[in-house]
Amino acid sequence: MFKLIEGKAIAQSIRAEIREKVAAFKAETGNEIGLAVVLVGENPASQIYVRNKIKACEEVGIKSYAYYLPEAVTQNGLEELLSSLAQNDEIQGILVQLPLPTHLSDKALKLIPDGKDVDGFSENNIGRLCLNLPATVACTPYGVMKMLEYEHIEIRGKNAVVVGRSNIVGKPMAMLLMNADATVTVCHSKTKNLKEQCLKADILVSAIGKPKFITSDMIKEGATVIDVGMNRDENGKLCGDVDFERVKEKCSYITPVPGGVGPMTITMLMYNTYLAALRSKN
Ligand code: GUN
Repeated sequence: MFKLIEGKAIAQSIRAEIREKVAAFKAETGNEIGLAVVLVGENPASQIYVRNKIKACEEVGIKSYAYYLPEAVTQNGLEELLSSLAQNDEIQGILVQLPLPTHLSDKALKLIPDGKDVDGFSENNIGRLCLNLPATVACTPYGVMKMLEYEHIEIRGKNAVVVGRSNIVGKPMAMLLMNADATVTVCHSKTKNLKEQCLKADILVSAIGKPKFITSDMIKEGATVIDVGMNRDENGKLCGDVDFERVKEKCSYITPVPGGVGPMTITMLMYNTYLAALRSKN
């Protein structure tokens, strides 16, 4: 029998805690906590993510500042906005929704000071995570770690396999699991024996963006399966990277899509913003 890891419910309980912390911060300092959310262009998935992030801000009492830039904005235009947000004392966190349109370079993100980098994407934050030093941790992998913690799933000494090596999920995920004493394997599109690698996983995290790519023959009996994918299946229905209906029968724990990792990601963004405000106060 498998247990469903209900990210949505865990996220709600963490958001209630954050709401209290934010209220206490405001009472103590007399200041708001501000998060700037920058969206360039009209990517429909990004629009939904940004809307949900702004909604989450309302839920926990963080003041959101939304900046919707036209698709045609220049690199200079984006950089001018980020420079002014970097200097704005009312704003403790800045996030630029990715991916940017192809004519813009991610180099603009370098204008976000490390202290306001609530996505944990900066070179310093990623470097500090690699060194196992205090860092702002990217929200999705951070949310996955929180889910494992909530379910008391042991990581130390376990075989963890991360499928996907992106800078925003796969790499920081592998670092977090390694820092928690797992033996970590990172697989990607050029991995030769993916099935054999996955079969070794006590904890499997998939973040590749391919609908139902992880099938039950790739799963070790009793594994924990974390699905970071957010895809559409052949009928246009939301689904993860994992063939949930078949894979669940072999698992001890599994996350659903939707309602699994997604709500946790946004919750950790709220938490990172609160932590950024605390740091800026001290
Ligand atoms: N695009 C996909 N995931 C993320 C995320 O966690 N943060 C930002 N800023 N953009 C994303």
